[in-house]
Formats: sequence, structure tokens, C-alpha cells
Amino acid sequence: MEVKLRILRYNPESDGQPHYKDYTVDAGPTDRVLDLLRYVKGYQDGSLSFRASCAHGICGSDAMRVNGVNRLACKVLVKDVGREITVEPLLGMQIIKDLIVDMEPFFENYRQVMPYLINDETPEQGERLQSPAERARFDDTTKCILCAACTTSCPSYWADGEFLGPAALVQAHRFLFDSRDQAPAERLKVLNEQYGVWRCRTVFNCTAACPREIHVTQAIGEVKKAIITGRLD
Ligand code: SF4
Ligand code: F3S
Ligand code: FES
Repeated sequence: MEVKLRILRYNPESDGQPHYKDYTVDAGPTDRVLDLLRYVKGYQDGSLSFRASCAHGICGSDAMRVNGVNRLACKVLVKDVGREITVEPLLGMQIIKDLIVDMEPFFENYRQVMPYLINDETPEQGERLQSPAERARFDDTTKCILCAACTTSCPSYWADGEFLGPAALVQAHRFLFDSRDQAPAERLKVLNEQYGVWRCRTVFNCTAACPREIHVTQAIGEVKKAIITGRLD
């Protein structure tokens, strides 16, 4: 079937401002939006720029707006979005070119929550043991692929990019509730600061946008509770 693809194009070196360009491609119902973008780039317009790598929902590099909703292009089937598809870059980030946005501020926020295990003790048995229940406590937030679909759908982040944003808060949760980690106080201090967890107004856009179906707002709520109670349970 014929699919009309409307793509937001922008080359800061030659374009005054972003503009839409239309393409018509022949597609099957189970083709993905990423397949259409690759077809356009390969056969119609080699100047189109976008990020993608794994093509299977794992690497998180092809988050973009598809018909106004943050999605991974490799996970959206044509039959689910119809024959007229608008593709735009993520909101709230500077466009480098076309669908490629500058992710550096996003990763700077990510680094602020210390997204790694902190534990300087030598484990007694050669490894840090953890019960299934302890592991289950933070299982949901281990699924994050850092695609930024959540953060770039959050009105608080649009208002001020200094806000750590839901993706960084999900990563903070992943380490805060890990029984092997020994730096909860350090992390909670960062999360309790001006641009930390309290900038979240419980809008839930992040949860709706997450392609991994992580309970993002719930995780943020658990971080807020940990700050208030001083307990990690
Ligand atoms: Fe992407 Fe979900 Fe991780 Fe946000 S929480 S960065 S939407 S995988
Ligand atoms: Fe934003 Fe999600 Fe909170 S959309 S306001 S981080 S619940
Ligand atoms: Fe890797 Fe889509 S290309 S998540």
C-alpha cells in the first residue's frame, strides 16, 4: 500500500528553520516506521538523517515523535499508525540535523545521579550476593534503555532542561534500591536538590511514553518517599 510520510527536516547549516518534506513509499502493514525511513534514505533522499542501530527495541537510539507520540521507530508498525505518518524529532532537545537531536544534556543529567554501583568493600565470597527478593526490588528500572522518550515527553523538562528528568530518576531508582549499593545518602542528596525529583509534578507522560513499559512515575514516587522517610523499603 501507499504510505505518505511527512518528515520534519532541518539542516542548521542551510535551512532558516525546520520544515516538513513529504515522501510517498510503498509499504506493507508489518513494515516498521524505521523501515520506511531507511527506504527514503536509501532510494529517495540520501540527505535524510536519523539515528538507529539495533532495529529491535534494544539500543534506544531511534526515539522520535511518530504522529505526535514519542516512539521507537523500530517498534512502530505501519498497520498501527495508518497511511499518513508524520515523523518529527524529540521535543525539548536541540536538533543537530533532521531527526537527530543533541543528547548530551540528557546524558549530563544521567551522569549526575551516579548511575553505577558504589561499593568499595571486597566481597567475602568473591561476589556480591543478593536474594531473589532483593533483586526483584529494582527489576523494573533495570529495563531502561536510555532512549529519552520519557524525559522528552515531560512538561517539567520542556519548561527547564536543568530538571534531571524521568530517565535519570529511573536510573537513580535502579541503584538506590539495589541492596549491594552503599551510596544512597549521596544519591538522595542530589535528588533532593533544586532540579531533582521535586520538579516532577506527577504528569504521567513519561510512563505513557516508555517503550519498555517501565512504571516510571511509580519509580519516581518511590524515590520521593525515600527522601521523605529516609527509608529504602
Ligand atoms: Fe526510555 Fe523508558 Fe528508559 Fe525513559 S525509562 S529512557 S522511556 S526506556
Ligand atoms: Fe514529568 Fe513524568 Fe513527573 S511526565 S512531571 S516526570 S510523572
Ligand atoms: Fe535500537 Fe530502535 S534501533 S531501539
